[in-house]
Amino acid sequence: MKVTVVSRSGREVIKGGLDLNDSATVADLQEAIHRRTKKFYPSRQRLTLPQKPGTKERPVVLNYKKSLKEYCDGNAENLTVVFKDLGPQVSYRTLFFCEYFGPLFLYPVFYYFPVYQFFGYKGERVIHPVQTYALYYWCFHYFKRIMETFFVHRFSHATSPLANVFRNCAYYWSFGSYIAYYVNHPLYTPVGDLQMKIGFGIGLVCQLANFYCHILLRNLRSPDGNGGYQIPQGFLFNIVTCANYTTEIYQWLGFNIATQTVAGYIFMVVAALIMTNWALAKHRRLKKLFDGKEGRPKYPRRWVILPPFL
Ligand SMILES: NC(=O)c1ccc[n+]([C@@H]2O[C@H](COP(=O)([O-])OP(=O)(O)OC[C@H]3O[C@@H](n4cnc5c(N)ncnc54)[C@H](OP(=O)(O)O)[C@@H]3O)[C@@H](O)[C@H]2O)c1
Repeated sequence: MKVTVVSRSGREVIKGGLDLNDSATVADLQEAIHRRTKKFYPSRQRLTLPQKPGTKERPVVLNYKKSLKEYCDGNAENLTVVFKDLGPQVSYRTLFFCEYFGPLFLYPVFYYFPVYQFFGYKGERVIHPVQTYALYYWCFHYFKRIMETFFVHRFSHATSPLANVFRNCAYYWSFGSYIAYYVNHPLYTPVGDLQMKIGFGIGLVCQLANFYCHILLRNLRSPDGNGGYQIPQGFLFNIVTCANYTTEIYQWLGFNIATQTVAGYIFMVVAALIMTNWALAKHRRLKKLFDGKEGRPKYPRRWVILPPFL
């Protein structure tokens, strides 16, 4: 089979095209492109079918697991594919590890080291119990996230653009430092004992619930990440589509009740807005996939992220 690889402007990316076996898969084609170009490894490549002139539909993206023949549309001898370079990629696990390692490392720096001397505070620093518990809580949270990244989540996408590492690290590392600065500050005023216990209590319950939500999501896919998107069932998923985000937001609320800083509440609001945006998209996708037509199940009526509001 002869495969012609063109750019979106129609320029030939591989001069003379590629000759592949009739039984070749899209993955074989990606390997062949990589061999010829050296630079474009498979996860950097986005291959689509050429669009018919005038059509407004999204182009068909070639699935690496499928045979090339499935995309040939009658002519099994020739195939033209459109190539797009997605740029340098990193694995999702690397991306998540980089994001979470920052706050896990930076927060204790503010607790253990005399950083406030650099900000002009020369006196002795008294550490309140709530600041110590906040350190344990924070580190547990980010350690849990790293463990979940490596041992729980079954991602559907292998990689993410390298640029996302810088964007996401900027978000997590700067918010982590911002909150750590205020919670560990020498002039920090602790909340009452009862408020602290209620806050951390709510937060811990929500962290455990969040972990259980991630286990339920994991069980929707096979170990190799196959299985696509399923209807999440059980526990809080019976009420809300993104129960993992709900519990994530409430665990930050618990942390903020216990520590009470403006920085912590700002982070919670920003995180809630980001997750709400994602939750709306996930809810829409599940409703579209499970529309109750042609034998497909119908997505049940559920809240999106924050019952009883949304
Ligand atoms: N504080 C913050 O700013 C913030 C922001 C975002 C997330 N988080 C935390 O990080 C956690 C992970 O975030 P995330 O956005 O990666 O979570 P997510 O997309 O909701 O889900 C985690 C894993 O479950 C899979 N999954 C989700 N819905 C599924 C379905 N219906 N069927 C099959 N598999 C499904 C996802 O697959 P895919 O690989 O296909 O997506 C992913 O591997 C969150 O739950 C939250 O605790 C915190």
